[in-house]
Amino acid sequence: MTTATMDHSETYLPRTRARRISIARVFVRFAVLYALIGMGMGIYMGVAEDFTLRPAHAHINLLGWASTMLFALTYRAVPAMSESRLAIWHLAITTFGIVGMTIAMPLYFYGQEWVHPIIGIAMLAQVIGMSLFTLIVYRHF
Ligand code: HEM
Repeated sequence: MTTATMDHSETYLPRTRARRISIARVFVRFAVLYALIGMGMGIYMGVAEDFTLRPAHAHINLLGWASTMLFALTYRAVPAMSESRLAIWHLAITTFGIVGMTIAMPLYFYGQEWVHPIIGIAMLAQVIGMSLFTLIVYRHF
């Protein structure tokens, strides 16, 4: 494809539409990664017959894969939500919380008790993220 025939439509989108697409897109891209990590843990547990990671597996699948995918679909379905200034904070704080949880929970369940406060912070971040999402839903859905 030559430069003249390349599709630049997304580059030329108005700022608000570009922002809407990127919030949903970032959420969905993280969601599929969490799903792979969560399923990988499930496969490991089944093969090794070691169920230590069961709570980490459940949280990464449900908060990581399922909730994040629902965020992505909601932002995609209701464009006005992405235009909220809070949306970027919802994305950043939620992602911080889930990535932190994804790293800290397996460590904790394999005996690294010092990560316990990190799990607390990661979970608090997710509550704050959900509170922001609640505000955005009530204002724009
Ligand atoms: C390749 C896919 C998956 C595999 C191989 C897998 C495997 C497992 C295994 C081996 C257990 C422990 C069962 C036991 O203790 O007897 C488990 C528990 C569980 N899984 Fe999965 N899983 C998969 C996907 C998912 C997904 C997609 C979700 C949710 C969206 C999920 C949610 C849960 C929950 C809630 C539990 C119970 C945790 C607990 O009792 O503490 N899993 N899974």
